Amino acid sequence: MACSVLNNVINVFGKDSSAYFAMIGFVTASYIAFKVAFNVIKILKYFVFAGSTNFKKLGSWAVVTGSTDGIGKAYAKELAERGVNIVLISRSEAKLQEVANEIEKESKVQTRIIVADFSKGLELYDSIREQLAGLEIGTLVNNVGMNYPFHNYFLDVADREEYFMKMINVNVTAVTMMTSIVMPAMVERKKGAVINISSAGGLYPVPLLTVYSACKAYEIFFSRCIQSEYESKGIICQCVMPYFVVTNMSMPLLVATKKSKIVKPSLFEPSPTTYAKAALDSFGVSDFTNGYWAHNVQGTAMGMLPEGIVKKMMMGMAEKGRKANLENMSKKKE
Ligand SMILES: NC(=O)c1ccc[n+]([C@@H]2O[C@H](COP(=O)([O-])OP(=O)(O)OC[C@H]3O[C@@H](n4cnc5c(N)ncnc54)[C@H](OP(=O)(O)O)[C@@H]3O)[C@@H](O)[C@H]2O)c1
Repeated sequence: MACSVLNNVINVFGKDSSAYFAMIGFVTASYIAFKVAFNVIKILKYFVFAGSTNFKKLGSWAVVTGSTDGIGKAYAKELAERGVNIVLISRSEAKLQEVANEIEKESKVQTRIIVADFSKGLELYDSIREQLAGLEIGTLVNNVGMNYPFHNYFLDVADREEYFMKMINVNVTAVTMMTSIVMPAMVERKKGAVINISSAGGLYPVPLLTVYSACKAYEIFFSRCIQSEYESKGIICQCVMPYFVVTNMSMPLLVATKKSKIVKPSLFEPSPTTYAKAALDSFGVSDFTNGYWAHNVQGTAMGMLPEGIVKKMMMGMAEKGRKANLENMSKKKE
């Protein structure tokens, strides 16, 4: 088959090699132009339809996991500003109460708090189910996540088996169980938003953050399958895949990769507030998104690179981060 196609091409172009190169150039340029145009349309669509979802109409309550800091706290505050009551879930009761007070004062909505440590596994979900019973939940933000403190080889992670089980519980079990608990009532009411905060690190294998990257890939496939299964039943399951956002979680990785003491928010590394606002505005516009226009540009650029180059780039960045971190640790010891 391949041979006969090749023969046909040879018959059309004869033996003039410049014609082959011209054709390859034309096909490559058309492919790149098509990809760029497709993504520009996606970004323009975002600017035209951004913020068109009325979250209040989906249900009077939203549940946000991992909501006392970073992206989760920003999502909770932004949803409250849009008039939705908020259930906050994290580990620290004091921090939960503080954020709940802030939200009630700023946005005049109701809040509830649930203390839960998602690293613990299945035993915590009966209590969460009981505490959520009876609330009209229109929006679920599966945000809670756990990453490595720094890039490291799989076998070099301290207490790795226990550590990786916790990581899988926080990143994989939580999104699966929370969706299982909250979505049935949404399906009954034929409307609801399930927003899963995965990561751009789930789109490509990220070495030296192996278990995190694998968990985030799970979240991507989970979201896409739920969207396919339940979109006809009124549910929108959006998968959000940020690149770097400046938070407690990303700071050690950012500091190590950039070799600077502190990293401030910038265009490509926004604050959680900038990020959550943009990502919430993209709800209903795109169900598979990097969530923020500068991250969508990064995603488009990365998507056009050959796999081999992405693999080398990722390994290079990871090794650089690990080396910087080892240097920092030995300086601290001195
Ligand atoms: N920041 C980034 O650059 C970035 C990039 C891509 C994807 N993401 C994803 O975005 C999500 C949020 O990350 P973030 O950077 O905003 O993190 P963060 O700033 O570290 O905040 C994490 C939040 O989750 C809570 N939390 C942590 N472990 C928990 C546990 N075991 N049980 C219950 N709550 C827990 C924390 O509160 P307590 O400590 O009070 O429990 C906190 O409210 C994660 O899924 C992450 O993978 C982040």
